[in-house]
Amino acid sequence: MAYVLGIDLGTSSLKGLLVDQAGQVVAQASADYGLIHEKPGYSEQDPQEWLNACDKVFNALRKDVSDFTKELEGISFSGQMHSLVLLDENSHVLRPAILWNDTRTTAQCRRIEEVLGDKLLGITRNLALEGFTLPKILWVQEHEPDIWRDVRQLMMPKDYLGYYLTGNYFTDFSDAAGTLLLDIEKGDWSVEIAEAFDIPLAYLPGVVASSDCIGTLRKDIANQYGFEKTVTVFAGGADNACAAVGAGILSHDIGMASIGTSGVFLSYEGQETPDYQGKLHFFNHALAGDYYSMGVTLAAGHSLNWFRDTFAKEMSFNDLLAPISEIAPGSDGLLFTPYIVGERTPHVDSQIRGSFIGIDTNHTLAHFTRAVLEGITFSLKDSQQLMTDVAGKSFKRIVSVGGGAKNKDWLQMQADIFNVEIVSLTAEQGPGLGAAMLAALGSGWFKTIQECADTFVAYTDVVFPVDENVSIYQQAYDQFRSIYPNVKRITASAKIAK
Ligand code: XUL
Repeated sequence: MAYVLGIDLGTSSLKGLLVDQAGQVVAQASADYGLIHEKPGYSEQDPQEWLNACDKVFNALRKDVSDFTKELEGISFSGQMHSLVLLDENSHVLRPAILWNDTRTTAQCRRIEEVLGDKLLGITRNLALEGFTLPKILWVQEHEPDIWRDVRQLMMPKDYLGYYLTGNYFTDFSDAAGTLLLDIEKGDWSVEIAEAFDIPLAYLPGVVASSDCIGTLRKDIANQYGFEKTVTVFAGGADNACAAVGAGILSHDIGMASIGTSGVFLSYEGQETPDYQGKLHFFNHALAGDYYSMGVTLAAGHSLNWFRDTFAKEMSFNDLLAPISEIAPGSDGLLFTPYIVGERTPHVDSQIRGSFIGIDTNHTLAHFTRAVLEGITFSLKDSQQLMTDVAGKSFKRIVSVGGGAKNKDWLQMQADIFNVEIVSLTAEQGPGLGAAMLAALGSGWFKTIQECADTFVAYTDVVFPVDENVSIYQQAYDQFRSIYPNVKRITASAKIAK
């Protein structure tokens, strides 16, 4: 049976997911790479590491699956968003990639706001955030003019891998949207923004739909591995867009709550463009012509990791989480805000920090653990609430992915806090499955992405909200929301006192 390969080029590893025409995962392989943190706030990666990792994954799959090289038909990608790769006229990498989680670019964000004013939101539908690509380009222009002088192509990580595999420069709409250089509604690079910051349009890759073909596997690479068929390569998409495709988020009434290091609450917008005023990220989807919105909790899984490492280092996550089922919803009045590294949604505030509120002598480790999970989930609810308040959204179902889907008490908590039924995926594969689905669609295996999802995506049983818990959580959520303005005031005055 024919195969497609979804490659997820993440922040810490590259994963390959080999899927057959029945939507079954035949094999998977991954290779890790490191981050370079030269200074506080800096986060970089050597693009060569992604290519090496891709080679390792091809070799592992060739070893594990006897007909891999015979049956592979198509490849597509899911990529870490926003990260900047710079190439010279010979297509050589000029410096390490500056990643999405690098925060050196605050001054450049302020400059973008000054130069573009309201046009920034009007054209890109997003705010200038440190993580996005345009501020990184400005930083290189200002701090490394010798490097900028040699730049001839710029792109995002998965596009560099696409170039390596095909020899062609392309990006897709969902990744282009995260640069702050795309006119989101026109679906093309914004000449106005590019000119305002002296970025020649010729440096930007052509933008295509995620399931569009960007070429075929280079002959030398095909020969090196012995691929027998012509392997077609499809553009792929941003990791969050691909995660949504792989979780079947293809209609307005199904949302996604994803808990990794950061947390994402994501909603399919179709062709509608509600005006979230930059409070939510608003990007082109990996589905041609469609959009999605999402809110980001910077420290979701990171808050839980921090909590365990600091207060219960000797315990496994399972042991730490087991007793939370004995604690009532609301953690007997204990509240946690997960702003331990600042926040993105709904508070664009890199200075805010987390808090536990309402500590009582009766509170145990289990109360604190439950409060941490509740705080993370309340923070994701903030994004759900914005979608409801601004766009009148109501969800019939939310698909829980990542850490929040692995614990039954956390699943029930999500159902009660979001007040929506929750499902998780039977065999969760992350954004790599979305990438494989884009390759399957591009290869003509299915007419629509929905048809593909019907074959590739399956859910577990539904977890329903419990009325009594819903009303407890509504009160607790109101209290949670009142913490930010007060803590912000205290943080501000504490700074003055220093
Ligand atoms: C999204 C974002 C992250 C990266 C991680 O805006 O910055 O989710 O996509 O790869």
